[in-house]
Amino acid sequence: MRWIELRGTKYMCLEAGCGACIVSVVKSPGAPPEGVNACMVTVTSCHGWEITTIEKIGNRSDGYHPLQRSLFENNGSQCGYCSPGWVMAMYSLLKKKKMTMLEIETSLGSNVCRCTGYRPILEAFKKFATDAPDPRILDIEDLSICKKGGERCSSDCDDYDWCIVSRDDVQSGVMHIKLSDDRDWYRVNDIKDIFNVLALHKNKSYMLVAGNTAKGVYPILEYPRVLIDVSSVAALKGKYIQQNLVIGAGNTLTELTEIFESMRKRDDFEYLKVFVDHLKLVASIPVKNIGTIAGNLMIKNKHNEFVSDLFLLLNTVGAEISIVNENGFTKKVNMETFLKEDMDRKVLLNILLPPLNEDFVKIVTFKIMPRSQNAKAIVHAGFFYKLSQYNRVLQCRIAYGGLSGVFFRARKTEKYLTGRKLFDNDTLQGAVRQLDQEMVVVENPPDMSVAYRRKLALGLFYKGLLSICPQDILDQRYKSGVVRLRESRTLSSGEQSFDTNPSIWPLNQPSPKFDGLVQCAGEAHYSEDVPSLPREVFATFVLATVGLGTIENIDASVALNEPGVIAFYSAKDIPGENTFTPAGTTFYTANEELLCEKEVKFYNQPLGIIVAQTQKIAERAATLVEVTYSKIRKPVLDIKVTKHDPKRIKLFSSSKATRTGDDVAKVIKGEMSAYTQYHFCMETLVCVSHPTEEGIKLYSATQWIDVVQRMVSRVLKIQQNKVDVFLRRLGGAYGMKISRGTQLSIACAFVTHKLNTPCRFIQSLSNNMRYVGKRFPSSITFETAVNKDGVIQSNDYELFEDNGYVVDEPLAMLASDAFNNCYDKAPWDFRLYDATTDTPSNTWCRSPGSFEAVSMSELFMERISYEMNLDPLKVRLANIDRENHSEILELINTLKEKSNYEARRLEVEKFNVDNRWKKRGLRHSLLRWTPVGSLYLPVNIAVYVDGSVVVTHGGVEMGQGLNTKAAQICAYYFGISVEKVQVKPNDTTISPNSFTSGGSLTCQFVGVGIMKGCNKFLEKLEPIKKKNPNATWEELIKAAAVAEVDLQTHSMTGMADIRNYNIYGATCAEVEVDVLTGEWNIIRVDLIEDVGRSVNPVVDVGQVEGAFIMGCGYWTSEELICDPKTGEVLTDRTWTYWVPQARDIPQDFRIYFRKKSFSTEYILGAKGTGEPATCMGVVIPITMREAIVDARKESGLASDVWFPIDGPYTVEKICLACETDVIDFKFY
Ligand SMILES: Cc1cc2nc3c(=O)[nH]c(=O)nc-3n(C[C@H](O)[C@H](O)[C@H](O)COP(=O)(O)OP(=O)(O)OC[C@H]3O[C@@H](n4cnc5c(N)ncnc54)[C@H](O)[C@@H]3O)c2cc1C
Ligand code: FES
Ligand code: FES
Repeated sequence: MRWIELRGTKYMCLEAGCGACIVSVVKSPGAPPEGVNACMVTVTSCHGWEITTIEKIGNRSDGYHPLQRSLFENNGSQCGYCSPGWVMAMYSLLKKKKMTMLEIETSLGSNVCRCTGYRPILEAFKKFATDAPDPRILDIEDLSICKKGGERCSSDCDDYDWCIVSRDDVQSGVMHIKLSDDRDWYRVNDIKDIFNVLALHKNKSYMLVAGNTAKGVYPILEYPRVLIDVSSVAALKGKYIQQNLVIGAGNTLTELTEIFESMRKRDDFEYLKVFVDHLKLVASIPVKNIGTIAGNLMIKNKHNEFVSDLFLLLNTVGAEISIVNENGFTKKVNMETFLKEDMDRKVLLNILLPPLNEDFVKIVTFKIMPRSQNAKAIVHAGFFYKLSQYNRVLQCRIAYGGLSGVFFRARKTEKYLTGRKLFDNDTLQGAVRQLDQEMVVVENPPDMSVAYRRKLALGLFYKGLLSICPQDILDQRYKSGVVRLRESRTLSSGEQSFDTNPSIWPLNQPSPKFDGLVQCAGEAHYSEDVPSLPREVFATFVLATVGLGTIENIDASVALNEPGVIAFYSAKDIPGENTFTPAGTTFYTANEELLCEKEVKFYNQPLGIIVAQTQKIAERAATLVEVTYSKIRKPVLDIKVTKHDPKRIKLFSSSKATRTGDDVAKVIKGEMSAYTQYHFCMETLVCVSHPTEEGIKLYSATQWIDVVQRMVSRVLKIQQNKVDVFLRRLGGAYGMKISRGTQLSIACAFVTHKLNTPCRFIQSLSNNMRYVGKRFPSSITFETAVNKDGVIQSNDYELFEDNGYVVDEPLAMLASDAFNNCYDKAPWDFRLYDATTDTPSNTWCRSPGSFEAVSMSELFMERISYEMNLDPLKVRLANIDRENHSEILELINTLKEKSNYEARRLEVEKFNVDNRWKKRGLRHSLLRWTPVGSLYLPVNIAVYVDGSVVVTHGGVEMGQGLNTKAAQICAYYFGISVEKVQVKPNDTTISPNSFTSGGSLTCQFVGVGIMKGCNKFLEKLEPIKKKNPNATWEELIKAAAVAEVDLQTHSMTGMADIRNYNIYGATCAEVEVDVLTGEWNIIRVDLIEDVGRSVNPVVDVGQVEGAFIMGCGYWTSEELICDPKTGEVLTDRTWTYWVPQARDIPQDFRIYFRKKSFSTEYILGAKGTGEPATCMGVVIPITMREAIVDARKESGLASDVWFPIDGPYTVEKICLACETDVIDFKFY
């Protein structure tokens, strides 16, 4: 689509994991419109399809679609990069069927949004549900929808032309296309044609292409020579009953669900209800719309360790598969035989499901995932029991996946159970012992640990039995083991409470982001949306493949011989300095190499640039560059290790205790660590560079255009004024694009410089995750003396910040004031260290420094409360710095009341007493956040003779609503409507030397710049106004133009514009965990933040919610795993790194802004909002810990003994920390 300049559809992961690329397709006349991930579909597979992209459903000229409007109006679009994908996912769902609010909410696991925190997106779309309070369903129905194609249509049906290809063409025989890379593409309609094609290409590699989604699981770097599209082979479709239910293997997983749904109404296939529910947990709807049964099972055939849910389900009921070979011979095999079957030149025809009509058959299946939706199973299990009327086991099948590539059935346990009374405590214990013995579980990094998967498998076995156990047998407390936390979660809701003062509007006016609508329509431009120019080339980095070592030789000859490869460059080709960071400036203390010259500092450090005709060729060629290394060493990766190495730590700052006490009831000694976080911008690092008359123009995804310009000039040895950097907006940044985008932008400019041709450098998600620095891991060590009330008497407290391989960006600075959060630091002896590890240079990540410091302080308070057996809130209150931070008390009190804390506290305690296998926690976290620094930002205001205004400024719009607030502030000072103000994009010509955007300061500084500019302008206007006291704005401007007043002003901001204030926040969260699986659900969060008098409260609500959810992700599912031997990042994909999705957010999410808060007049009373709430995400692990502690108590473990959990509280860590003994698995 991008080749034909349809750039409204975005993309990021290219593996169906993010949803940015979703479009709607009708695969044949009369078929329903369905969402599909464009990144999975090859253009040749689209033959006969009608495809609707975001551009078609609503746009500037034809009017916007109600879904686009709703998403915009509900503030569901911040950076907007994800928005077209959301709209198209929802559009496709609604085109297919009417849905309830809950159905809508559960159907959106296909999409990721890193900015909003999902709540507003869900709200926008739930308005179209049948059961919405004020349903907008009519809006959808009112669209005239063509009966043939399901498409919105303005013409008569007779005029409707079915695509470019006629129906006959679609149904004719074999279609052959010779692809440009000499591969052969066939489309066949018949099974015999598959074999004819295979016979024609006897010795060539081939692939049957059904949905082509398997590449989302196991990426395909290079396709086989012959590709046979089997998606329209009729014999692979449909279903029939021949005692067994026979289903064509070419059915998509959506079609399969529909078949199950209809067949479960028959007595002998009632069990398919279980399968329907299980399939809801498989992949996402767009993947299921094209991914087929055969494709899924074939992945399992090739990769036995693959956690195929379909295989599991079929194996649970003893289904079979029929396979046909080139001689037309068909055979049936059972599931496990299929795994060993050589499928070369064979076609998977059908699956055969047995009828199971007996009364006493029970089937239960489970899929446990790291987050609620759209993730592969960690472990999944299926249990089939055929019982006598006295509950004796006549037959059973126990199936597992996710344990190893060899263990699929627990046959010995099945044998053990056969003939025994099933719901008997002794039988249960015996079976658990047997299962534990026979299970084969193997390490498979980055999969979760053997210990957890083993425990999980046992837990699921027990959970399965609890689910089918007659209620009269089951002890009341064990019934909690039956509940499926995630699947039973009901509709989410939210509340946002803030004040607004209409008398000062547009200031303080809650209005959606002004560019939100174009974002939702795919009309908003990002750096990579610059149209392609002739002779454009693509570049990518070649990455080192050792953790530490010396480069001896780089040989690119093999890569250069590949068709389409144009050039390779290494450090020696760089004309100027080989660095992308300007050492010796405020934000950089080191020169980080652009391309590694000799000594490799971390795994995957960039060491070369490959240039090719296409992105794909470049990426493949990059893997063909041969590098010889010497002195390869094992890297040190863990902050917990390096903090003990004096050579790797350096004191950054310290503060001495000013007061200590001697009322010591206990001395607590310990350490805690937390690790990194990938930013997960939906727009990865990207740059497009064009040669210009005088030099180079760059469209760079950066938070800092000046540093890109400066560094390109230094590296290329050309003057800064020959380099232009242009930026309209970013598709998310969260700090990553402050410094890390520079490296790639320079490389892109370098290619243009060398080849005098346009270059596009689009970073793959994998590369972005591998070599780009992330959030600083951190660790604390402490020895603390407290009195009986938990009041700190003395505290020897050290905080270590892991910079990666080099201390470059001085982010420890941001922790040096935040370490004590809102607590009295008088008794604290504090030392802050910069530490290094052999990992990429870590960087800004939403609230860097302060996030680690605040989180650690909150966990530290928890530690005191547990060790002293005290109420955690009381411990916090006892330690608050009442002299400097007493303001927070008001927030705590408001929160306690709003959250109904006292009553809920009792409910939680009762819940925990009543339930053995579910536990709840209800806890708080507090926040004091102080913005640091100043931003040098130029602001220009130009007024046109019609009275309209253009603002340009040095800030970067990255979803935070900067331009919306800028327009509001400008309109406020001029006393005009915001519609009159237009904020234009940024570039180095109009905003030279501007500083970065970040630190939650940009809105404030741009606002000050606008205030200065407006005042200057109004001063110039004053004489005209005196002469025309009653003139309107337009009349004044016209008169000023006639009087030759310069209708433009320039202003700038800097150190003098710093205004100090503190931001306070408090959060109360309630979480439930499943003791047997480690799964969790955030039941409710009440969050209060002091945002001052917000310039735009709904934009700020979005900032707070989004920040908080990013913090939740850090503390729950986002775990970056490296190979301990090399440092290679193993979790470099959406398949392995899990950011929160829509069903992971608090089920009840309430945001309150502190009332009557005001910072200072100079900054219009506002406070920063982009980052602080991230720090309050720590409330989630704190609350989870309470639930875990209660579970541990059941296992006989004391609550005052602290147990370490470093980093995110993943399902794995929760389950293991509960320390459940299988001896406790009982029915009664
Ligand atoms: C984001 C994402 C999430 C996913 N989540 C899950 C999940 O939670 N659980 C799960 O089980 N799976 C999951 N999957 C896997 C998904 O189910 C499969 O990708 C899909 O079913 C493959 O079907 P396909 O038609 O696209 O196969 P293709 O990619 O077209 O083909 C895959 C392989 O099957 C072969 N093949 C296709 N048809 C036949 C045939 N009739 N006979 C013989 N060989 C054939 C092809 O030659 C090829 O080797 C996920 C996939 C993605 C991308
Ligand atoms: S780019 Fe297609 S789903 Fe991410
Ligand atoms: S608005 Fe969704 S990722 Fe930015």
